[in-house]
Amino acid sequence: VTAAPHWDDLWLNVNLATMDASATQPYGIVEDGALATHKGRIAWLGPKKDLPAGARATRSHDAHGAWLTPGLIDCHTHLVYGGSRANEFEARLDGASYESIAQAGGGIRATVRATRLASDEALTFRATERLADLIAEGVTTIEIKSGYGLDLATELRMLEVARQLGLRYPVTVMTTLLAAHAVPEEFTNRADDYIDLVCNEIIPRADALKLADAVDAFCEHIAFTPTQVERVFRTARAHGLAVKLHADQLSDLGGAALAARFGALSADHLEYTSERGVAAMAASGTVAVLLPGAFYFLRESRLPPIDGFRARSVPMAIATDCNPGSSPCTSLLLILNMACTLFRLTPAEALAGVTRHAARALGLATRVGQLRVGLDADLALWDVEHPRELCYAIGANPLIASVHAGALRERDILRQASAKRVDSRELIGRLQL
Ligand code: NIG
Ligand code: FE
Repeated sequence: VTAAPHWDDLWLNVNLATMDASATQPYGIVEDGALATHKGRIAWLGPKKDLPAGARATRSHDAHGAWLTPGLIDCHTHLVYGGSRANEFEARLDGASYESIAQAGGGIRATVRATRLASDEALTFRATERLADLIAEGVTTIEIKSGYGLDLATELRMLEVARQLGLRYPVTVMTTLLAAHAVPEEFTNRADDYIDLVCNEIIPRADALKLADAVDAFCEHIAFTPTQVERVFRTARAHGLAVKLHADQLSDLGGAALAARFGALSADHLEYTSERGVAAMAASGTVAVLLPGAFYFLRESRLPPIDGFRARSVPMAIATDCNPGSSPCTSLLLILNMACTLFRLTPAEALAGVTRHAARALGLATRVGQLRVGLDADLALWDVEHPRELCYAIGANPLIASVHAGALRERDILRQASAKRVDSRELIGRLQL
């Protein structure tokens, strides 16, 4: 006879959208369910009527019929940066293009200048404000890239700031070294020399300091050629680091196939990806990370090959791409709506894109992204009638509470932390662990 379980937390009077890959219907719905957590993990879930006899918990929560989903995952962000590019937004409304601004020394280079000048405190403070918005929407895992330093010191500083955010706030942070984001000013017309620096110094240092979980690059005519990206990827793989790629965002340079050839976790953007690229991603198991915020903000008209991804069962994740140039967005819920409205994803596909598939894009599929026994107790509790409402509403935030690694935070504290009316310093303090 096994003793009746005694858990830390038990959620009752709750509906579950498990997003479990093995479920027979899209959301993995369990109505009138229960979910228990213990020592930071999911310990039990199922219909309430199947709860083991005599089961007890230190804390029981009546969810009053609300819905539990896995905590949301934002698998592609440039959260840490200095300055703002509202001036470029205005210039684009006056007729300038994203590419022409970049070619004239603005764009990524403008943010690099601001980021190099910013103190660690300033970078941390601004990133925390953005992070608070995401956490207040139920995000419990986030990827954060470097890529606005483009020199050894600043690239490492950005990664350190990102790591610190994960230690201070209730969110799992995965860091990505994106030193090959643009050719820095001081290397103008010497892109290959800059790639030498990336491969010989920046990647090895970041790896030695354990600051990067993965390596990313921007393969584009305003950034790096496929040959240069290959050098970056070979170096990353030699250091045992996972790779991913900003691929085929503005033109088709064969980025998706290149990423697939290196077994990339994900290829991201993908508006100009060819059928060959889709097939290569399917064969390598590379996740397609779609970024409707950048598509929207740059007024792109070419859609990613979504039917191709569906036909070949390439998992599609979606993310904010939070960055000052192409997607100044701190709402993953808005991105859910955009994925449906602009990309025609179904609400179930979009929700899988910020849970199960986003986890896989970060190499975290065995830890987060589904409600399953043994996975991290990362949960979001929503005041909705059905999970499809998370994609339907524009500008609403029905989050009631979130749980990260078993620790509960209620909506009030999360919401206040993102309300700019109150002194953010004090609120940031309250959000800290
Ligand atoms: O994901 N495509 C390259 N990088 C970012 C934008 C960078 C910027 O404009 O600052 C993106 O769209
Ligand atoms: Fe990006």
